[in-house]
Amino acid sequence: MNIKLVVFFLIVCFSHQSLAEDVRIKVDLPMPARDHMMSNMRDHLMALETITRKLSRQQYDEAAEVAETRLGMSSLKSHGASHLSSMLPKQMAAIGTRMHKAASRFAIAAKDAELDGGLNSAFSALSEVMQQCVACHSGYRVH
Ligand code: HEC
Repeated sequence: MNIKLVVFFLIVCFSHQSLAEDVRIKVDLPMPARDHMMSNMRDHLMALETITRKLSRQQYDEAAEVAETRLGMSSLKSHGASHLSSMLPKQMAAIGTRMHKAASRFAIAAKDAELDGGLNSAFSALSEVMQQCVACHSGYRVH
């Protein structure tokens, strides 16, 4: 058999295996907390959808309001965040805090977009929010 073909086949096998491998840290949460966290998560995604829709319609103040109240520092109480975050590994909770702070910074950037007409910094700030979603999802799981 062609040796190059064999080497290629092996490389494909091994690289696929490492891609499929789940390296996320499993976090054990009591059931009510896990349900609560997943319901927060679904709301996070809905909030992002609303925010991008508002931005596309130049409704900057509304985008800012949704970001601040549903994802930003003002959302912590309604999300029961301090109780939840005390159950999480420190580094995971820190990513959550970074996400809330980034969302509050986005709210300010979105309001600025209304004033100076530029969306670049708003989108850059929004991407910083989403980087924290990605960071946590790549590192941790609860199921
Ligand atoms: C501090 C960590 C953390 C942050 C930050 C975070 N998530 Fe999650 N999210 C998780 C974990 C853990 C899961 C469950 C993954 C698993 O167990 O497979 C999850 C699950 C989800 C789910 C699936 C919910 C369900 O019902 O199955 C959605 C949707 C989601 N996240 C959206 C988001 C969005 C959008 C953001 C950012 C705005 C975000 N998350 C930020 C940790 C986080």
